[in-house]
Amino acid sequence: MELLIATNNAHKVEEFKRLFAGLGIDVFSLKEKGISVEIEENGTTFAENAYIKAKTIYDLVKAPVIADDSGICVDALFGAPGVYSARYGGEGLDDKGRTALLLKNMEGVKDRSAHFACAICYIDALGKRHDFYGECQGTIGFSPKGENGFGYDPVFMVGEKSFSELSGKEKDQISHRGKANEKLLAYMKGETGHDQ
Ligand code: IMP
Repeated sequence: MELLIATNNAHKVEEFKRLFAGLGIDVFSLKEKGISVEIEENGTTFAENAYIKAKTIYDLVKAPVIADDSGICVDALFGAPGVYSARYGGEGLDDKGRTALLLKNMEGVKDRSAHFACAICYIDALGKRHDFYGECQGTIGFSPKGENGFGYDPVFMVGEKSFSELSGKEKDQISHRGKANEKLLAYMKGETGHDQ
């Protein structure tokens, strides 16, 4: 079985390739299939955005597709940046700039609870939609900590450590993406006849 990942993010493609290794599923990126398309992520939920990405590509290829969407939701900011995590503060900011902006917006705020969320949408060969979701609870720190990871990892604290202070493997075990991937994998194992 061939499975297309609806992303241009090489990091995500590698992660999915690792996940499906040994399941008899050949994973391809959009680039590998010569597909170049701008997708407007105008949904208001992670699940909606994941579906928009998956459906856009499914309509082009009429073959199994997976897409994901993720972000960080801060309670004291009424769930922001949420689905706008990648665009928080506008196009001009990079990961460091967005993290600094988040810390600034949290200055003097006592309730620092937050969670990361990840929605995965799988559209199968028959065009049927399957949704998977994972969350990771934590708090927003007071300054960036650690060297690993990406995005908001340096300020997302789980207990005493930030996501950036965990190894990739340690993060996978508790992260929003890790949890959503686990559910997807269990489903795919059933579909491909592999033991769960
Ligand atoms: P997308 O899922 O590619 O739309 O990315 C959403 C944005 O959320 C990323 O650009 C990051 O800023 C943030 N994000 C999602 N997952 C993580 C994570 O595991 N660590 C840090 N930031 C994340």
